[in-house]
Amino acid sequence: MMRTHRPGELRADHIGNRATICGWVANRRDHGGVAFLDIRDATGLLQIVVDPAKAGLEGIKQVRSEWVLQIEGEITARPDGTVNDTMPTGAVELVVDSLTVLSESEPPPFPLDERVDVDETLRLRHRYLDLRRTPMQKNLRTRALVNKAMRAAMDDQDFVEIETPMLIASTPEGARDFVVPSRLHPGTFYALPQSPQLFKQLLMVGGFDRYYQIARCLRDEDLRADRQFEFMQLDIEMTFATQNDVQDAVGKAVIAAAEAVRPGEGPTEVPRMTWHEAMERFGSDKPDIRFGMELTDLAAVFATTEFRAFAGAAAVKGVCVDGQGEASRNVVDGLVERAKQLGAAGLVWMRVRDVDGVATLESPVVKFLSPDEQAGVLQTLGATVGDLVLIAAGDWHTTVGVLGQLRLDLGRPPVNVGGLHFVWVVDFPLFDGVTDQGKPISAHHPFTMPHEEDIDKLESDPLSVRSQAYDLVLNGWELGSGSVRIHRRDVQARIFALLGISEAEQQQKFGFLLDAFRFGPPPHAGFAVGIDRIVAIMSGEENIREVIAFPKTQSGADPMTNAPSAIEEVQLRELGLQVRKAPTKS
Ligand code: AMO
Repeated sequence: MMRTHRPGELRADHIGNRATICGWVANRRDHGGVAFLDIRDATGLLQIVVDPAKAGLEGIKQVRSEWVLQIEGEITARPDGTVNDTMPTGAVELVVDSLTVLSESEPPPFPLDERVDVDETLRLRHRYLDLRRTPMQKNLRTRALVNKAMRAAMDDQDFVEIETPMLIASTPEGARDFVVPSRLHPGTFYALPQSPQLFKQLLMVGGFDRYYQIARCLRDEDLRADRQFEFMQLDIEMTFATQNDVQDAVGKAVIAAAEAVRPGEGPTEVPRMTWHEAMERFGSDKPDIRFGMELTDLAAVFATTEFRAFAGAAAVKGVCVDGQGEASRNVVDGLVERAKQLGAAGLVWMRVRDVDGVATLESPVVKFLSPDEQAGVLQTLGATVGDLVLIAAGDWHTTVGVLGQLRLDLGRPPVNVGGLHFVWVVDFPLFDGVTDQGKPISAHHPFTMPHEEDIDKLESDPLSVRSQAYDLVLNGWELGSGSVRIHRRDVQARIFALLGISEAEQQQKFGFLLDAFRFGPPPHAGFAVGIDRIVAIMSGEENIREVIAFPKTQSGADPMTNAPSAIEEVQLRELGLQVRKAPTKS
């Protein structure tokens, strides 16, 4: 037996016992001829005390940070005045009487005990050392808990876990595929799955009415704080189910995850909001509902205005920024600049000041507003002395979008503040806009079912058609999305025609799905939760890299394994490939 106890588990009730422990040297202090070392393993830290004068312990003099030791001794109470309440093992220490060095370590390239600003590339080059640090240990354990809780929730609801293949033909998720050349069929390629989308729909045709999978997905897209090439989804699909049924099933899984990781902080039920309401109130389809500062409609206030910037605008909206009325001119000019960068024609700002005991708007534009309009602004926005009022006008989309972004810039709390606020956003538009050729563009994918009440408007007014697509949002992050799928041939044909997808293209891109749909496709609907994102938020991390054991850098590289890298000429030849451009060294 290598050990009798794990260092981080020892407590006051172990006092008087003998113990053998193993672990890394986290740090050492030499005091009055005695060495004090903190020994670390997966369970935490334990202080050991070594007297180098004792027979067999002389070797302690050479021991350095990150050496791996096996230690035997007696667990004793720490002397009065040396108890450390900030450490779970702070009441005890192990007085060593035998010690074996299991392995030695070079000095680590960065300190492992704290999360000081270590260069990201350095951390990733030595990720195995970074993983020894407490935050990474904690985050990956949180990840395991989330997976476990969600898997249990799906099992409890009678979902069947089924794996789908990694080497497939391209799926229409909208991103670029990673491709794998085929050796047996030179000149042809597999695509790695952007998600199990089409396969899970085929499983529904195959009679599995409740599928789930913790699925690896791969997308060749630009990396950001919430995006990696490889990521995991809790992927689900159900037959004979409405969107509410899917949302309830997913809701149970994410609530279980929240309860497992941050008990008492999650909801007992996830509220729903339409896309239109989310845009109107928060200027975003992923509303961060942890804080107020909601957008307010000012159309009625300015219905007959003579102020040129607002007259005739399709939308006039405002936000009230509490307590920011005395923000410097620099800050205010910065907001105007930001609004313009975001596409607004301009941004009107007004300070609310106390003039003879009356809340009064002050701004270079106030002289263009009638007294009624000024009173209307104050009243509608609920603005009081000391506040800053921001107003934008123009087309609806830009106006709400710009104010929504300013709201986030000014009010968004850090990710680990304010609890866990989930919300379903439902009734997304079916189409996002139109192409240069006037064809509508699918907002989700072309198998998304239109809202039953809007099907009649598909051809006459496509941009007003709502879809049965829905997103789950947590603290302003898009956590997942899903939809009711089209299983009716007539509706699918109309959508393909609208999108301008020819028969030949349909056949080439998803012929196998359409073939399957000739054989009794059941009504079905599904969803996918981004696991990296839910774990990041629950761990209080702003970047999903912090919750992935071996992520890629922002530029898509792995500094530890040097991926991506060139391959041998013989491998290329076997695959029938020739590289046209020599790789550039990064
Ligand atoms: P979608 O493409 O919206 O839907 O993806 C669902 C969720 O997966 C996560 N996600 C990512 N996480 C990290 N890095 C990425 N590059 C990345 N891309 C997506 C997000 C996102 O909300 N098949 C459909 C689902 C369905 O309709 O059932 C799909 O994949 O959290």
